[in-house]
Amino acid sequence: MTLVVKSGGPGALAEWQAHFAEFAPRLEVRGWDDPDLDPEDVRHALVWEPEPGRLVSFSNLRLIISSGAGVDHILRDPYLPPHVPIVRMGGVSTIAHMADFVRLGVFSLLRDMKRIITNQQDRHWEEFGVPRSSVETRVGVMGLGTLGLPAAMALRDCGFPTIGWSRRRRTLPGVRCYEGPDEFAEFLSRTDILVNLLPETEATRGIINAETLALLPVGAAVLNAGRGSHVVLDALVAALDSGHLSGAFLDVFSPEPLPKDHPVWAHPRVIVSTHIAAIPSRRDRARFTADAIAAFERGETPPNLFDPAAGY
Ligand SMILES: NC(=O)c1ccc[n+]([C@@H]2O[C@H](COP(=O)([O-])OP(=O)(O)OC[C@H]3O[C@@H](n4cnc5c(N)ncnc54)[C@H](OP(=O)(O)O)[C@@H]3O)[C@@H](O)[C@H]2O)c1
Repeated sequence: MTLVVKSGGPGALAEWQAHFAEFAPRLEVRGWDDPDLDPEDVRHALVWEPEPGRLVSFSNLRLIISSGAGVDHILRDPYLPPHVPIVRMGGVSTIAHMADFVRLGVFSLLRDMKRIITNQQDRHWEEFGVPRSSVETRVGVMGLGTLGLPAAMALRDCGFPTIGWSRRRRTLPGVRCYEGPDEFAEFLSRTDILVNLLPETEATRGIINAETLALLPVGAAVLNAGRGSHVVLDALVAALDSGHLSGAFLDVFSPEPLPKDHPVWAHPRVIVSTHIAAIPSRRDRARFTADAIAAFERGETPPNLFDPAAGY
């Protein structure tokens, strides 16, 4: 069985092959630009930004694995074979990294880390308190999927009164779960720190906007580790400048990289990170891919299967 890899360029192929030799020794791993590759041999493809028309040339392709969490870079191919399932990158290390990052972000917003760092940079001695502790701070997690659910559990375990919101109702001990558009306003009204881990779909693009931000209590804060397109940045900045929001921690932007002259880089109430919340190593990705292929070949549903009808 041949797995073709397009991720990290030709220079990364030897590393991929070494990792797959460990996790799936029977897979033959070939480079995307290998001149000796017979397209008919390819059964699985691990890809990042495949050129349009290339995947359809593998007539025996059975499974596509996205080398990143998103699949838009695959779906934009107008010749994409519609019958071939797509798996989004994931795995235990991604889940753990995201839970760590969400804890970091929520505690940073709680304790005003931006002000601590700024004071240090300015050599400014300031004694300041914060309005509440973790046990008094309600955290609302938007998106209770592969990453959101463990993140919500991690926050709950840190002592934050935690609630969650998803498309279909989830059940999570100690976490009150809200579902769908009808319960969104109530969810927001009970959230002091909003954590976004939704996928990007028609329904979620621009979901953090002037109207929804206004539903958060005064002094609330926002952590976005989902997708940049979820947040209307001008509305977020306006809510910070008016004092309605106390702070924001943003890891994702639209477009990326965030342009150097964008005012949010220097906003006194915003912490910017550079889409680093949960970056799996090649070894982690090879392990996840090997497991997904093995499950698929056993006739099981692989993890993180993209649902074209739902759009995520
Ligand atoms: N910053 C980073 O480094 C980084 C790294 C990896 C991933 N990400 C991003 O993290 C996000 C979450 O990824 P994931 O793997 O956890 O996604 P996922 O497993 O697909 O989970 C998505 C969750 O969002 C909910 N949802 C989807 N559409 C909704 C809607 N219209 N209204 C309410 N809830 C909705 C789903 O509800 P149901 O439970 O009802 O299906 C599910 O709970 C994605 O945007 C991904 O791109 C970021």
